Amino acid sequence: FDAAPLAAVVREIFPAADLARVNDSPASILVAGCGTGQNAIIAARRFADANVLAVDLSRASLGYAMRKTRELAIRNIDYRQADILALGSLGKRFDLVEASGVLHHMADPFAGWSALAKRVKPDGFMRIGLYSERGRRAIVHAREFIARHGFKPTPSGIRRCRAAILAAKGDELLASVTRNEDFYSLSGCRDLLFHVQEHRFQLPQIAAMIDRLGLRFLGFEFPDSGISAARYRARFPEDLALADLGKWDRYEEENPSAFARMYQFWVRVPA
Ligand SMILES: C[S@@+](CC[C@H](N)C(=O)[O-])C[C@H]1O[C@@H](n2cnc3c(N)ncnc32)[C@H](O)[C@@H]1O
Repeated sequence: FDAAPLAAVVREIFPAADLARVNDSPASILVAGCGTGQNAIIAARRFADANVLAVDLSRASLGYAMRKTRELAIRNIDYRQADILALGSLGKRFDLVEASGVLHHMADPFAGWSALAKRVKPDGFMRIGLYSERGRRAIVHAREFIARHGFKPTPSGIRRCRAAILAAKGDELLASVTRNEDFYSLSGCRDLLFHVQEHRFQLPQIAAMIDRLGLRFLGFEFPDSGISAARYRARFPEDLALADLGKWDRYEEENPSAFARMYQFWVRVPA
């Protein structure tokens, strides 16, 4: 990305959204569950003059993130160990709060989302990433295969599991996990197929949570240079803002891999 102010980035991703009162000054950003720092580093580079606070529970991940950030000579990220459920003590609100690939690993994703929504300034934004039930169906199917065969998440168990999946014939859904590059490394395969706690969502559930939190859905962000957006627009030309979650649910029903990675979307907090 070329760095741009938050307001310009949001206008570019969502040209049809009503973005009245978007603050044009340098943004304060909270990256919640930053893990090894990827999201924080992208945010620090994507938003011009931003101040990023990145938090995670895991000291090991934070240590790695700090090392990477130093190596890249990025100076606008502060890392801190913190629990998403205890961020009230920060006493601070942000223009943008990001939580991508995080809430669905918490025991109560809604509680996490709700705690984070309280850390957003009025008229501010959230960028959320959640697993899709439909999008993850191949993974769920592979996990059932693993449970049936009793493969363990040890190096030898993972190797035997991979060999069994590669040898399985006539199961296209199972075979499709072998197209994921994570399948081919031990740690990647462990995260992909053996990860413990995971919630998965359908769009009507997400719409209900957005409603309960009093947020406004802005739209999805796809890493595919507009291909999905163009396909959706051709299917539902009447949804000018590309923000009707009922229609997106039908779109996903017709294109079950549309959100195979996860739902990645923005919401706005009311004034
Ligand atoms: C799968 S990683 C995603 C990391 C990063 N967002 C990314 O996409 O690369 C999920 C992270 O959420 C963190 N996490 C889970 N529950 C948390 C909580 N209650 N408070 C803070 N971090 C949490 C975990 O420690 C882990 O680093």
